[in-house]
Amino acid sequence: MTFQIAIDGPAGAGKSTMAKILSKKLQAIYLDTGAMYRTCGLKAINNGIETKDEKALSEMIKNINITISFENNHQQIFLDGKNVNGLIRTPKVSVAASDVSAYKAVRLKMVEMQRDIAKVNNVVMDGRDIGTYVLPDANIKFFLVANINERAKRRFAEMKEKGMNPDMKSIIKDMEYRDKNDSSRDFAPLKQAKDAILIDTTNLNIEQVIKVMLEYINETQII
Ligand code: DC
Repeated sequence: MTFQIAIDGPAGAGKSTMAKILSKKLQAIYLDTGAMYRTCGLKAINNGIETKDEKALSEMIKNINITISFENNHQQIFLDGKNVNGLIRTPKVSVAASDVSAYKAVRLKMVEMQRDIAKVNNVVMDGRDIGTYVLPDANIKFFLVANINERAKRRFAEMKEKGMNPDMKSIIKDMEYRDKNDSSRDFAPLKQAKDAILIDTTNLNIEQVIKVMLEYINETQII
């Protein structure tokens, strides 16, 4: 039997940080579903497709070739055979990912891949709709939140560390845009599942959040 841990929430709430640590501790793979939508966004940009053109995106998605592999628990994502891990974290791709992910055809294709991976692996999967739509029967679901200033501060530090030249105002603007876009779409929006555990990470450090999550995970006896 495999287990599934779902982590949802808005950008910067700590999902990927916690998912990476938990997956290592629990010997599961960490599937970053945001990277998949980012890759779709990147393909649209590369092909000059308007990210709000549902018809063109639905055509594009029919033939998209996304593959994922895990090297030492690090997800590698390939678009048409090329590793795009280093190309999908820009602000432009973040906004494009949020736009293209609103469309059903795009989501259905990504969700199918996500479920296939979860069928045969222990997974910690993070995203926006994992607990509500992708894995409704996950063994445990978390919904992480934090206030926007704290989330933007974290994203700022992350980008600085990567050698980028971030601007706080545009980080907040992009986050507000994505929060609204991701929660207001018709199909599988960002929403807390009824049975998800809500954790506000605003005033907690990484160790504190992991401790709380592990306490809940231990109660489920999946490990
Ligand atoms: O987690 P992230 O910031 O890398 O995600 C980028 C965008 O992809 C996000 O703004 C919305 C979309 N997304 C989604 O709609 N569903 C998911 N399961 C994951 C991400």
